[in-house]
Amino acid sequence: MAGVKRIVIRPASSNWPGGRAACIAAILLAALLLAGCDGPQSALDPAGGEARRVATLFYVMVTGAAVLWVAVIGLAVYAAVIRPHPHPERYANRLILWGGAVGPTLILAALLTYGLGLMPSLRAPGGDLRIAITGEQYWWRIAYRVPGEETVVMSANELRLPAGARVELTLDSTDVIHSLWIPAIAGKMDMIPGRTTRLALEPERPGVYRGVCAEFCGPSHTLMAFSVVVMAPDAFAEWLRREAGPAVAADAGADAAGRELFLAHGCGACHTVRGTEAAGTVGPDLTHLGDRRSIAAGILENTQANRGRFIVDPAGVKPGVEMPAFGMLPAAEVAAIAEWLGRLE
Ligand code: CUA
Repeated sequence: MAGVKRIVIRPASSNWPGGRAACIAAILLAALLLAGCDGPQSALDPAGGEARRVATLFYVMVTGAAVLWVAVIGLAVYAAVIRPHPHPERYANRLILWGGAVGPTLILAALLTYGLGLMPSLRAPGGDLRIAITGEQYWWRIAYRVPGEETVVMSANELRLPAGARVELTLDSTDVIHSLWIPAIAGKMDMIPGRTTRLALEPERPGVYRGVCAEFCGPSHTLMAFSVVVMAPDAFAEWLRREAGPAVAADAGADAAGRELFLAHGCGACHTVRGTEAAGTVGPDLTHLGDRRSIAAGILENTQANRGRFIVDPAGVKPGVEMPAFGMLPAAEVAAIAEWLGRLE
């Protein structure tokens, strides 16, 4: 092996000046990455049956990958540092056969079999409650149907679920392909125009989670989100009963100004507020808007100022939105409409 230089890799010694800083940086980076693993939109902080199985699959896959990585790096260190001499050819051939072909085939086949084995339970249809969700540019039309009951309860942009139940979502779209994803509760599912797809949810832990659109659908794709409120079953039943009714404040005398302006400016051509003449179906149902945590599909906090801001300049909040701007209205009228909408509980 004349002329071949031996390459020696030395581990970083403690007197290497950058060593400690690099170590601290690595620990901080790991802490930051791990801190991102919980929260309302994390698939690694599961609050539903499917998300829990997906998280387990992730950890099994990561463990498998880590074992393979350690084995490969171990061999590389062995060959480069511990025994940097030529090895007999018959060992090399054996290593290639077992380490390069048989081993990876067995490990990948085992991981694939495990992953495929999870799929039937992830996609089985049926449930205690059916919810139809339609993707729109850029919001979510939501219809609750309790099996055995005729009533369909229309809502928008906030999904409420009973903990411990199995809920079947039927998904479609009116315009382009969207994708519904609530990472903490389940995997994602495409919403395809002209086709119905299904997703089973098994929310387990009451709390507030975040869902998003996971398929590029236009300029406001990233501004298409929603809250998911998982409630105790009794609280959910009570909420659904109220949600089915007309808006509580819709007819109250004190709210007449905002309501009259809402109807006079033609808002009812696109929006429904049950309990008033507003029965449009182009835009989101606003019957219980005051009850929702956010407006504009999970983008703005549901405050009077934000409702007013969206009425005046919807495209400024959400580029590409179909709602026309009402910037020509006097500020006092906008405020009255925004105030009334906030009372619709
Ligand atoms: Cu809807 Cu992206």
